[in-house]
Amino acid sequence: MSYAAYVFDAYGTLFDVHAAVRRHAGDVGPNYQLFSEVWRAKQLEYSWTRALMGAYKDFWKLTEEALDYTFQRIPGVDRALRSKLLEAYWKLDCYPEVPSVLRALKARGARIAVLSNGSPEMLRSAVTNAALETVIDDIFSVDALKTYKTAPAVYDMVTTSYRLYPNVVSFQSSNRWDVAGATRFGFRTVWINRTGMPDEYPDLGPSLILPTLEALE
Ligand code: LAC
Repeated sequence: MSYAAYVFDAYGTLFDVHAAVRRHAGDVGPNYQLFSEVWRAKQLEYSWTRALMGAYKDFWKLTEEALDYTFQRIPGVDRALRSKLLEAYWKLDCYPEVPSVLRALKARGARIAVLSNGSPEMLRSAVTNAALETVIDDIFSVDALKTYKTAPAVYDMVTTSYRLYPNVVSFQSSNRWDVAGATRFGFRTVWINRTGMPDEYPDLGPSLILPTLEALE
């Protein structure tokens, strides 16, 4: 089966969210991994609570607020790193297999898109920094809707824009909760389980689980 469009989550799937802290690991100190995990967890929590409340703030602001929380939660990390860590978030590394996989899918005639909680500016910056702007046809940001994944309206942006049925769209995410939302919406879903996490959301399982994007078809 080939798909008309391959749609990718951004953070954790194409771009390594932990690259920002890792780049400054020496300055952050021995707790750098925990620091990065808390930052990411809070950023996501804020997106879910705000979507439920109907109190949208863009993902960049949530990223800043989550970082400020993390400094309080893990004391001893120099606050002077704030601007450096935030700056690094605009230039996250993409995972090594991403450029070749996206190019191969595009060469087969599929549309290639990003569908993300990120603000349009953050996403453009990450895509450009990774030199992916010529392979990615469209960037869909939740900002157009002022809500967050896993609201079905977010996934619907793709099908409405492309005039496709959900089952001819292949959606890839490393975030299991995002895979659950996309499965519920009706996409073919691929969970990129990069870090060997246990499965969850048993009634909303992916069509396929891969360790990286490498073998995606
Ligand atoms: C995104 C986050 C959730 O890119 O990873 O949508």
